[in-house]
Amino acid sequence: MRLTLHVWRQPNTDTDGRFVTYIADDVSPDMSFLEMLDVVNDKLATDGHDPIAFDSDCREGICGTCGFVINGIAHGPERATTVCQLHMRHFNDGDELTLEPWRAKAFPPLKDLVVDRRAFDTIIQRGGFISAGTGSAPEANSIPVAKELSDDAMDSAACIGCGACVAACPNASAMLFTSAKAAHLGLLPQGQPERHKRALKMVAQMDAEGFGSCTNHFECEAACPKEISVEWIARLYRDYMKATLTRPADTGRGEGGVG
Ligand code: SF4
Ligand code: FES
Repeated sequence: MRLTLHVWRQPNTDTDGRFVTYIADDVSPDMSFLEMLDVVNDKLATDGHDPIAFDSDCREGICGTCGFVINGIAHGPERATTVCQLHMRHFNDGDELTLEPWRAKAFPPLKDLVVDRRAFDTIIQRGGFISAGTGSAPEANSIPVAKELSDDAMDSAACIGCGACVAACPNASAMLFTSAKAAHLGLLPQGQPERHKRALKMVAQMDAEGFGSCTNHFECEAACPKEISVEWIARLYRDYMKATLTRPADTGRGEGGVG
């Protein structure tokens, strides 16, 4: 296959970027999208040009490092697929593809397709943990957890922190990410004591980082490679409202119930 790529090139945060066009020749349908870019980059480097910068680590769809916009769609056209797991067989010979980084105020561009996603880390630092004593692993059945709750917690814990939800949202909201992180802790008994304080702190940090609020477009859910449900956003709202209406922000006392 032969593809035409219009790639956003930006040397650093403080320099304006622009689209540059490249031809990708001899693209195998079995290549992943990142492998196709590796080949383009090999040629650029061989010819003495600066390779296209993009993030990747596991290339197995589990680390959340990769991600950019392909023809206007975060992670590209395949549903529930990270860009590292996207294969070239989903494209056609002669296609023109436009590659851009995530665009959001809270994700400043670093270089080309790479953005700074440390804002997600600060949201986690504000509440994405439980204050349980560490030590050896507890006996698995010492705290019984209902099957439905453990399944839900597992579903929300599938979030890989890639940022596609933010990139897809017209308001650059991080509510899908934040709610998934809050839910996977708050659904389990161990996460109850800090459940409401967690909602307040994580949402406050999300605001402080410059992410927008959820405006119910649900583009986040459509773009999410892990199919995280907007149901968790509603749950986070409920926790947040309970926290603001019924208790001081910093008591950290749980309700004793789950769900
Ligand atoms: S909610 Fe989905 S799109 Fe957003 S960071 Fe998590 S995995 Fe990525
Ligand atoms: S490189 Fe890890 S999810 Fe894509």
